[in-house]
This record gives sequence, structure tokens and C-alpha cells, in this order.
Amino acid sequence: MCIIVTNSPNVSELMTPLLQSAVPTSVVDFWLGSINPLWSTQQALARITKLESSASDTVTLTLKANRHVQGFLPGQHINITVEVNGVRRVRSYSPAWVNSSAGEFSISVKRVDGGAVSAWLSQPACIGQVVEVSAAFGEMTLDASQPKTTIMLAAGSGITPFLSLLRSQLADYPAPITLLYWTKHEDELCFVDEFNALASTYPHFTVQYFLTQANQPAQRLNEQHLQSLINDADNTQIFACGPQGFVQHAAMLAKQQNITAVIEAFYAPEVIFDSNHQVAITLQRSQKTIMVPVGQSILTALEAEGINPAYGCRRGLCNTCSCTKLSGSTQHLHNQDMNHESPTSLRICINSASSDLTLDL
Ligand code: FES
Repeated sequence: MCIIVTNSPNVSELMTPLLQSAVPTSVVDFWLGSINPLWSTQQALARITKLESSASDTVTLTLKANRHVQGFLPGQHINITVEVNGVRRVRSYSPAWVNSSAGEFSISVKRVDGGAVSAWLSQPACIGQVVEVSAAFGEMTLDASQPKTTIMLAAGSGITPFLSLLRSQLADYPAPITLLYWTKHEDELCFVDEFNALASTYPHFTVQYFLTQANQPAQRLNEQHLQSLINDADNTQIFACGPQGFVQHAAMLAKQQNITAVIEAFYAPEVIFDSNHQVAITLQRSQKTIMVPVGQSILTALEAEGINPAYGCRRGLCNTCSCTKLSGSTQHLHNQDMNHESPTSLRICINSASSDLTLDL
């Protein structure tokens, strides 16, 4: 099911063709935006209209979209661009609720220590602010025409794509779904009442909660959690969303059980690298060559040299940072796979250089 945000035509839509025929788009957008911040000739924008607490460290924001915000499938992500203290910053979130007739959707934001964007979005002062919205991306979607027993593994704010999937598709999904949800402490669990209500309503859905830092034996993800849920590996799928270490562990357990897994890390991979071991990256179009450490994300390494390629999620999901690798070898930072092929498409946020490289940048 694709959710389409629909807005009825407004004055900006009626005026835009006329204005654009004589005036540059940027000028038209400036004047439209000064009348109504959501009006734009082509930019996908949304205004924050409501902020509610969802857990001790999480808020849920409701946003009103303009007509350029595209539809998205439950479980997908969008990039939100905000301006904090004069600096544009991009973060990805999974929309968790949509009222398409009103053109409204919501995102849940977990406060991250030192996180400028999550701190900004957690303040009531953000209500009324307008943010940019990207096209949707992500492959964690349920296909009811090919139903499989589905095990959803969520940690922390990795819960949001599952909330969206369950709200919109659980009623009609013709196979069992189990949600296993981890947080550090009980007060960090979000939407518990809603998950419990879904489990009471739909016999094919069960939910279990696990705490990793409460006063009890730690309940970290292990093979026992999965074994009791798997009867037929060929007809079972695992979705995992959470921090890098969690989804990597989930992927390893799924591999051991020969089960298809879709994993999405909620944060960029943490990387340890030796800054003394360097290779050369040649940017063919820019006619530049720079030295970067082996093992560091290419995107981060380029930024450290003052080069700013396009990026979105910074975790390998949205493809915004993709460019063509023309020569050389790279290593994937999630699964450590090497890639020696050229030419090939390369997401520079989640790959590091293992040899001298030439990129079409
Ligand atoms: S920035 Fe999204 S895939 Fe690299």
C-alpha cells in the first residue's frame, strides 16, 4: 500500500505557472514562501504542527506536507533537512503515521546525546518551523501477495518503521508477525499501549519487550529468541532496525538460520581506522587528488578535506551519496565485503577505500 499525501490546490499552485513564465524559480519561491512558508514551486516542504512525548527520551512530531511531498510505503524512511543555528543538517526518520487526506504525517525523534538535530526537534520551539522532505527510500516493506512469517527485531528508535508497518498492514497480512523490541530501560519503550492493543486484537501478532540495562539479567538478542519462532526457514523473513551492532548481530543470526534478512542500521557505522595508512582518491570531474585513511568512510574522509559531496541518510539507505567508482578497491563498512569491480556504483557513506581510487566526482 502506497500512502500518497494529497493536498487540494492552493493559491501558489494557481499562480506558479504564471509567475514562473517571467521570473526565476528562486525568486518565485522567495515570494511564495514569504506569503506561506509551505508554498513552493517545486520544493517538498512540511511544517511541524504538533509535538508530543512518546517515551522518556522520544518525542513524536506531526507535520503538514505541501503538495510536493511524495507518497511513501509504510516502513520506508525520508530525509528531513533542518537549519540549526544557520547550519543545514539532514537526518532520516521513518514516518509512523499518515492522514493522507489532511496531508499530515508524523515522525518519532529520539534525543541523542550531543545530537544537534534531535535536540532542536525535541523543543516545543520547533512547532511552526518548516523543514525539507526528501523522496522516500528503504526496502523494509511487507508484501501481502507473498506472505512470510515475519520476525521484526527493533532496538531503540529502530521501532518506528515497524510501528508504521503494523498500523497500516497488520490487519490484512496473512502470515504470523512477531515483534521483539529492545531498549535499555523500561521508560524508553515507545507505543507500548498500541502494540499491546494490536496483539489483543490480532491473533497472528505477538510482541515481546526486552531491557538491556535494567536491574535484571541483560536480555540481549541471541539465537534462542529466534529459534522458537522459526518452523520453516524458507517461508520466514527477518526485519531488523536499530544501532549498527544490533543489526549486524541480527544479520549474523539470520545467516546461521538461512533466513532472508532485511537490516537497516539507525546510525552510521562506527569505524576504527589507522590514520597513518593512507591511499589516494582521485576525483575525476573535480580534477583533485587527496589522501585518505584506509578504513574511514569515503564521505567522511572527503568532508575532512573540505569536499562536500551530496548525502542524505549517511547509513547506506537513500542512495543520495552514490557515485561511480572508475577504478580501485573498496570495503563495505557494514559487512566488510571487498569490492574490486569497476566501473560500479558506490555509496561513499558506507564504503572505505582499500586501494587508490578514481571516482566520478
Ligand atoms: S547518504 Fe544515504 S546512502 Fe549514502
